[in-house]
Amino acid sequence: MSDSNNDNNLIVEGKHADNERLKLESNYLRGTIVEDLADRITGGFTPDNYQLIRTHGMYQQDDRDIRAERQKQKLEPLHNVMLRARMPGGIIKPEQWLAIDKFADDYTSYGSIRLTTRQTFQFHGVLKPNIKLMHQTLNSIGIDSIATAGDVNRNVLCTSNPVESELHQEAYEWATKISEHLLPQTKAYAEIWLDAEKVETTEEPILGKSYLPRKFKTTVVVPPKNDIDVHANDMNFVAIAENGKLVGFNLLVGGGLAMTHGDKSTYPRKADDFGFLPLDKTLDVAAAVVTVQRDWGNRVNRKNAKTKYTLDRVGIDTFKAEVEKRAGVKFTESRPYEFTSRGDDFGWIEGFDGKHHLTLFVENGRLLDFLNKPLKTGVAEIAKVHKGDFRMTANQNLIIAGVDTADKAQIEKLARDHGLLDNISNQRLNSMACVAFPTCPLAMAEAERYLPGLVTDVETILKKHDVADDHVILRVTGCPNGCGRAMLAEIGLVGKGPGKYNMYLGGNQAGTRVPKLYQENVDETSILTIIDELVARWSNERNEGEAFGDFTIRAGIVAEVKVSKRDFHD
Ligand code: HEM
Ligand code: SF4
Repeated sequence: MSDSNNDNNLIVEGKHADNERLKLESNYLRGTIVEDLADRITGGFTPDNYQLIRTHGMYQQDDRDIRAERQKQKLEPLHNVMLRARMPGGIIKPEQWLAIDKFADDYTSYGSIRLTTRQTFQFHGVLKPNIKLMHQTLNSIGIDSIATAGDVNRNVLCTSNPVESELHQEAYEWATKISEHLLPQTKAYAEIWLDAEKVETTEEPILGKSYLPRKFKTTVVVPPKNDIDVHANDMNFVAIAENGKLVGFNLLVGGGLAMTHGDKSTYPRKADDFGFLPLDKTLDVAAAVVTVQRDWGNRVNRKNAKTKYTLDRVGIDTFKAEVEKRAGVKFTESRPYEFTSRGDDFGWIEGFDGKHHLTLFVENGRLLDFLNKPLKTGVAEIAKVHKGDFRMTANQNLIIAGVDTADKAQIEKLARDHGLLDNISNQRLNSMACVAFPTCPLAMAEAERYLPGLVTDVETILKKHDVADDHVILRVTGCPNGCGRAMLAEIGLVGKGPGKYNMYLGGNQAGTRVPKLYQENVDETSILTIIDELVARWSNERNEGEAFGDFTIRAGIVAEVKVSKRDFHD
């Protein structure tokens, strides 16, 4: 990049954030992870490697419930790692499922599998001596965790649409191709975790030696379903089909939800429409968007480093023109499409190919054997007999996909017997939380453990006001990073401190509107009082069929966020 480029403010000058140093000095993501692994005196990693292991799909964590107690006993925190697998489109085969189910039993402190809002699974609580075994176990079943965290392109999402099987297959294949195309080229993962022979890395043609300025998230979405929440992602390929066949994509760039409390330079932002591209340009365009963000993203201040801020700083037209130049493509006008919902379709549905698909609701995506609800065992029992595949959805649920008519009854019985097919209200089906306590080091307030009770209370409120068949998209996230995508909810609660949340209102059902702050620092009791008052008004004053989020804007309860940079904080 020549200096003259900077006349247009394309590059942020200044001292680079420390993460830039550690990526650059890491010898292509190797660092001294091998040495740290051999050090049995501590269960943790040294600060640089603490960051670097993320690019290998792991976060160092400790159990926050017992942190203070261990400190009293003069013990170091109980360090362990969370692993996040790379599963483009969230598809996993039954035999793979059985292997991860066993690993969770044998080697994780919590004995659970967590389905995530980005269509993959996480293990929580793996101790250092078992980390290599974990990667080797995954490798033996064809799974890795390369680039599922850190400043790289992460797990690529794809709408879980089992009904139109051919279209889904095509979309899924593109999700996989994009994932492979944007993966780091370094062989560090294989060397460190799989004992592969050392192969020097000489270049990262797409990601660069310092990798990306910040995390980068990609989706392939099949309208009308916006289950993967395009506006939470940096780069989205909207599948455009003609007669059930994929013909190309509309590209949406620059979505993202994270912000920092009290820092007005940060905000959740919707993605912008760049136009339509033909299929054969998909990988070139993906690489061009990533390299423009690589070169122009802010490496000085990590809080403003994501693609959404680059777009707002350099201008959408400038960014888009550079993508066109690098990819050798001219976007044409976006093809028409519409998003109508984000939820999963629970229960059985039949695909065009005559196969059956059963979507199971998994509260918080947490597969564990709960008292009277052995969910984890249930899925394992299904895996033992299932001949199709499983699909993890971006709503933290699980689809048993590709079931023959003859096998339906057996699968349904297993699901029912293990509490996987209980009657669930619409409200619960449309509520979501991030992990937060006890594992997430960044959590300010509870989320996953708070949600079930909160939903029960909201169900009561809806019943009281005669809207029990309806629902409000309700999402709780333990800090403003927003992993539970609360910044695209009709009611979004964002953790502020123990038991305290900022409440946002005004998102819509299709996930195409960012909500706005309604009240700050509210406790759990006040949250219910506010929801009670607002639902009463909604029930009495709403137009026919009007959704809660739309009502809060029409009634002037919150102003609409049209352009985040301008409206979100005003
Ligand atoms: C600066 C921003 C962010 C940071 C630092 C961050 C960090 C983290 C951490 C530490 C965890 C581990 C929690 C645990 O499993 O114990 C996590 C989980 C997760 N994050 Fe984020 N996150 C950020 C933003 C986001 C956003 C905006 C999304 C999605 C739109 C997202 C999606 C996820 C997902 C899917 C998980 C797995 C657990 C779940 O499904 O809730 N993250 N994140
Ligand atoms: S939103 Fe915050 S608390 Fe929740 S998982 Fe993400 S980083 Fe942790």
